[in-house]
Amino acid sequence: MLDNKGFDLWADGYDKSVELSEEDNEYPFAGYKDVLNTIYNIIHKKEKARILDIGFGTGVLTKKLYDDGYEIYGIDFSERMIEIAKDKMPLAKLIQYDFSKGLPKEVGNIEFDYIISTYAMHHLEDKDKVEFINKLSEQLFKDGEIVIGDVAFETRELLEQCKIKTGEWDDEEVYFVFDELEEFFPKDSITFTPISHCAGIIQIKKTF
Ligand SMILES: C[S@@+](CC[C@H](N)C(=O)[O-])C[C@H]1O[C@@H](n2cnc3c(N)ncnc32)[C@H](O)[C@@H]1O
Repeated sequence: MLDNKGFDLWADGYDKSVELSEEDNEYPFAGYKDVLNTIYNIIHKKEKARILDIGFGTGVLTKKLYDDGYEIYGIDFSERMIEIAKDKMPLAKLIQYDFSKGLPKEVGNIEFDYIISTYAMHHLEDKDKVEFINKLSEQLFKDGEIVIGDVAFETRELLEQCKIKTGEWDDEEVYFVFDELEEFFPKDSITFTPISHCAGIIQIKKTF
């Protein structure tokens, strides 16, 4: 699993390497643009919104939302990713923090319309994902929503099929399996939208 220094080294070449994987429709980034565009469109249902992006990276998605006038907060532990994103979004509140430890005190009493995360939360073990999502839910306005786009599968069988077809597979990353995750949340609060053979979007409404 990459640590913050690993992401620092990847930061300058990140956009290019994602583009190549997405162009070839290959794991892990097949469907990347569609994932980001779908989340962009979900957020655009609200004209104004305060958004928290978990693991914003180079800010590919948040920069577009920032330019559209949305209020942007973000958390990332890579100094270089933050530098790149800060250049694009000087007025965004970008916080350096390791989300495996929860949320930083800077967002402690702030509520959000949307908490989004793309291709970052697979760095958490499954049980930690559930705990973290519940923590994020506490930071939502009553009608708020968590929207996660990532390498994700409806079932473990589909994950295993993808793993067999794919030459290189990162066993250190823990990808979302929707029918295992949904067990932990009220039935009507969570949905899954498949986007490519290895990506999907999970939407979770505030659970209490
Ligand atoms: C693969 S990149 C995704 C970037 C962006 N969200 C996107 O969709 O292009 C993962 C990002 O999550 C950040 N990240 C990974 N683990 C993290 C952690 N434990 N705490 C904070 N940031 C983390 C990395 O620094 C990196 O910027």
